[in-house]
Amino acid sequence: MSTRAGTGVVPQFVDPPPSRPRHRYAMAGTGHRAGMYVAALTGEHADVGEIVAWLDPNPARMDWYDAEAGRALGLGRPAGLPRYTPDELEVMVAEQRADTVIITSVDHTHAELADRALRAGADVIVEKPLTTDEDGCRAITQAVADTGRDVMVTFNYRYAPRNSMLRHVIASGAIGEVTSMHFEWALDTMHGADYFRRWHREKANSGGLLVHKASHHFDLVNWWIGDVPAKVYASGALRFYGDKNAAARGMSGRPKRGTGTQGDPFCLDLRADPRLDALYLQAEHHDGYRRDQDPFAPGITIEDNMAVIVDYRRGATLTYSLNAHSPWEGYRVSVNGTTARAELQVVERGFIDLDQDGNALLDPSAMPGGFVQDPLRPEGEHLVVQRHWHRAEEVAIPDGIGGHGGGDAILLKDLFRRDLRVGADPLRRAADHLDGLRAVAVGIAANQSLVTGRPILVDDLALGMDIGADAPPRPSR
Ligand SMILES: NC(=O)c1ccc[n+]([C@@H]2O[C@H](COP(=O)([O-])OP(=O)(O)OC[C@H]3O[C@@H](n4cnc5c(N)ncnc54)[C@H](O)[C@@H]3O)[C@@H](O)[C@H]2O)c1
Repeated sequence: MSTRAGTGVVPQFVDPPPSRPRHRYAMAGTGHRAGMYVAALTGEHADVGEIVAWLDPNPARMDWYDAEAGRALGLGRPAGLPRYTPDELEVMVAEQRADTVIITSVDHTHAELADRALRAGADVIVEKPLTTDEDGCRAITQAVADTGRDVMVTFNYRYAPRNSMLRHVIASGAIGEVTSMHFEWALDTMHGADYFRRWHREKANSGGLLVHKASHHFDLVNWWIGDVPAKVYASGALRFYGDKNAAARGMSGRPKRGTGTQGDPFCLDLRADPRLDALYLQAEHHDGYRRDQDPFAPGITIEDNMAVIVDYRRGATLTYSLNAHSPWEGYRVSVNGTTARAELQVVERGFIDLDQDGNALLDPSAMPGGFVQDPLRPEGEHLVVQRHWHRAEEVAIPDGIGGHGGGDAILLKDLFRRDLRVGADPLRRAADHLDGLRAVAVGIAANQSLVTGRPILVDDLALGMDIGADAPPRPSR
């Protein structure tokens, strides 16, 4: 059994020809996530691409990135790039001759921005989720069909070497034909709670965690096993966060917001982090958006405990669960095959430490004595394959580069230097709008199932095209 991905996980690239003009990128949505792309295009990838404009309804956030870009480019002043409001997207593409619009805005705006960018003559790079509902899927599908332009969805989790290696193991035939999978994802009371402080807490904005967060996970499954989801059943509810749950557990007198609150581990003080302070607290007066709402405040319309069963077209079944108030963070995946079973176990954070006042420690290394690993649940990752009648074997996971389990930096190279890559990607990690549709299809069907109490056929969602068209290549055996 070969378990070595060789150079496939961290690919090689050649230098760009010296006279080649740089690709022109416009940033749509200048919040937290935009930072990764701005740093890449003003740093490692500045030789192949440049940012030519900002688009966001909030001027303070565009100001912040303009100053950041100026600093990174060594200008000694803000970059002074042109700014646009969302209604001016077409003007921006035309005036700034943008080749590609990078969409890092609130989830429910992705489809409209992508549709308009494509029709204005630009390609699109869009953060996950591709969109939040059926209408968004149809709009993007139609715009791609009408314009023939490219949409790339940045599924960075595919690029984390541990996830890439599981794809490699399955595709190599090492476990035979996949018959079923179990996938459990635990978000802790720091990261998980954050979805209940921000715009994500309303389903109309994010599609709930089954779309916003789980689209990463459903994409991984679709890609790992090279199959297309057919039928989805879901169950779930808001059982931990929210005002009613807090009241039922006797939690009274909750603060309105985290900023200014001390000794409450569910509260986030935006002033504790200069970036959060600048991007959100100092930007509030423009749009009234509060990024530090109490996760037990009224108004939450998303779930925090979710279970999903997915039947795949070729016959495999997925059982999936997502919990957003776990004491530790990480995931466990088991893939049953006809000759073996593969298991991936990841601990991203073993526990959350509190300081002497009872505040959650954002940076435990700042504590006297530094960061302490929990001996029972140390951070780490293990990929194991066990063949029938054999002992388990550990599969080595290559080192990654950058954040998100080592995936972000490899993703950025693949995005910005794709045409300079040496050889094709044997793992087929680059994702297009069809991959984006297949991932959100599960979450959108799951949301329908939560409402109706019934299993939902993905084909009945009528997402604008057959999501099995151009089906992902079946892993070789
Ligand atoms: N792949 C990952 O690991 C990852 C991580 C974080 C966020 N994301 C994705 O990035 C996107 C942004 O998330 P974030 O954490 O940066 O949120 P954020 O709230 O920090 O930023 C969102 C930005 O969108 C802007 N916006 C709102 N309406 C807009 C519109 N109509 N047009 C343009 N901009 C608009 C807001 O003003 C804000 O600046 C989300 O889709 C999220 O799913 C992905």
